[in-house]
Amino acid sequence: MRSFLVTLSAGAMFGAPVAADPLRDAAAQFYGPLPATVTELEGHVATPEKVELGKKLFFETRLSASGSHSCVSCHDLAKGGVDGLATALLPDGQSGLRNTSSVLNAVLNTDHYWDGREADLAAQTVGPELAGLAMINTPEAAVAALKAIPAYAEEFALAFPGEADPVTADNLARALESFEATLLTPAPFDAWLAGDDAALSDDQKAGLQIFMDKGCAYCHFGPSIGGQGYYPLGLVELPGIDIKAADEVAQAAAADPEAEDFVFRTAPLRNITLTAPYFHSGKVTDLAIAVDVMAAGQLGSPLAPEETAGIVAFLGSLTGTLPEIAPPTLP
Ligand code: HEC
Ligand code: HEC
Repeated sequence: MRSFLVTLSAGAMFGAPVAADPLRDAAAQFYGPLPATVTELEGHVATPEKVELGKKLFFETRLSASGSHSCVSCHDLAKGGVDGLATALLPDGQSGLRNTSSVLNAVLNTDHYWDGREADLAAQTVGPELAGLAMINTPEAAVAALKAIPAYAEEFALAFPGEADPVTADNLARALESFEATLLTPAPFDAWLAGDDAALSDDQKAGLQIFMDKGCAYCHFGPSIGGQGYYPLGLVELPGIDIKAADEVAQAAAADPEAEDFVFRTAPLRNITLTAPYFHSGKVTDLAIAVDVMAAGQLGSPLAPEETAGIVAFLGSLTGTLPEIAPPTLP
């Protein structure tokens, strides 16, 4: 009777008649299907006009000081929203310290960025902050560049009606955020959660069971299968120096007793098969090895090879349908 009630309520929550299935009931404690759309954002609503403007800005190289980089230079939407590099190649030709995070489904993350020490970079400032961090530009200079293009004044006025001076850094961020909110990638896992038994293979279902039994789901939960909470990489057992990023290697070499511990956001796992290399350092290229590092490092519970393979199979069910975004004509 109890499982019947649980089944009924899960069906009511996700709008589909769901057959009794203990695995799905267990998964429902951690996961629900991806929302079809997200329009309610931090302090504003994503309108079609903001989304259209945000799309143009996402492809706009004039936002970078050098004029060489747009968001898409590092967040290639056809390649999982990343660049495939270990760490990002900055417009000044230097290598960044961190692996590029995906923008796909990023609107669902409660925390952004790898590094817990930058947790105050709230969602609504992501646009301008990135203009600073990744595009080597200041929000002021990016706004000045946009103001020099008269057609953008019209587009900002359409997207932010009633504002006397709509071309601002905040509105730039709001437009980019509105576009990013459309970048959702529904996956077989969502179809299965909503009741389609055939959407996952038997191997993937077994892998999901292992993922939950081993404790991966205690950190990797919610709509992004992660994206919330910050932990040291190596909560139980520290990974080798070969997985650490350049700043950590330098800090370790300096042996500074005052040094802070590095903590990292629980990485979101949607489209994880597309976003190698892995971890904040981008130093692990093989997903199975990343899974083994997690099991030993975060849980202190190494996996048998068939358990690793099962989890990797399950993770494949998180690879979704990528949005098809044709490069827009820029003003
Ligand atoms: C030079 C490469 C590069 C460019 C250009 C770039 N990014 Fe990024 N982006 C990164 C890297 C690297 C990270 C991870 C940074 C970190 O966590 O320290 C990131 C992280 C993000 C995140 C956080 C996702 C999450 O939830 O963790 C968002 C959102 C984002 N970028 C959006 C943008 C937008 C919008 C633009 C254009 C204004 C842009 N990026 C331009 C490299 C880049
Ligand atoms: C204590 C919390 C915690 C647990 C438990 C945990 N993870 Fe993680 N996971 C993280 C954090 C934090 C990161 C980011 C680490 C980094 O890059 O430094 C991460 C990163 C990952 C990555 C790499 C993602 C990327 O984009 O590079 C994979 C894959 C992963 N976890 C899978 C798993 C699996 C499989 C399990 C169970 C065996 C697991 N995790 C258990 C916190 C956790």
